[in-house]
Amino acid sequence: MKLIIANWKMNKTPQESVDFIDEIKDVKNSNKTIICPPFVSISYVLEAIKDTKILLGAQNMHNELKGAFTGEISPTMLKSIGCKYVILGHSERRRHFNETDDFINLKIKSAQKNGLIPIVCLGETLEERNNNKTKDVIKKQINTCLKDVDKNIIIAYEPIWAIGTGKQASPEQVVEVHNLIKGLFDAPVVYGGSVNGSSAKGYLEKEVIDGVLVGGASLDPKSFSEIMKQP
Ligand code: PGA
Repeated sequence: MKLIIANWKMNKTPQESVDFIDEIKDVKNSNKTIICPPFVSISYVLEAIKDTKILLGAQNMHNELKGAFTGEISPTMLKSIGCKYVILGHSERRRHFNETDDFINLKIKSAQKNGLIPIVCLGETLEERNNNKTKDVIKKQINTCLKDVDKNIIIAYEPIWAIGTGKQASPEQVVEVHNLIKGLFDAPVVYGGSVNGSSAKGYLEKEVIDGVLVGGASLDPKSFSEIMKQP
């Protein structure tokens, strides 16, 4: 059983979300599928997955439970509408919204305290990889983001150079980093970065790769079903 996680990012209205679920809900598979829609589509997706084994996650949250944080969503709000998981520390949040490892650490602790399982994204830039810094970057992210958090977490290794670029890390490169991560923190580790219907198998057949986090290819029911169906 592998984890197949869809990160829809800022895509799909409620109606488009429901139409997508209708297309994939009967796909026979032995994996655990987690769909992470935009906030406004979450409750519609929850209704659409009612009689399926598909699970629901959000793409972000604030660490505070309530207050003067215009435009933000709290863990208790997510929990109250049926979310089980939440993606935290995605590189797009770090890049466009200046999220730091310390802030991500606060969010992870708050998610766990409030009954959500965080899917925490880590990964190096191309420059860091080319300068042989991948291990240092991953260690630093783990030391700060995962400080004092409990084991109920999913880690997503997402090399920034592979996200949305069509340039995938090879399964061998991913295995190397997953082994490093697992040596530092005991949790399932999934890979994300331009995974598609034809490349998913190469990752999922590796024992140390516990699943995939899929962006672009999760928007199309046909390519996402291909990934879900992997043995
Ligand atoms: P991608 O996105 O599959 O489009 O590269 C993955 C992600 O950002 O989680």
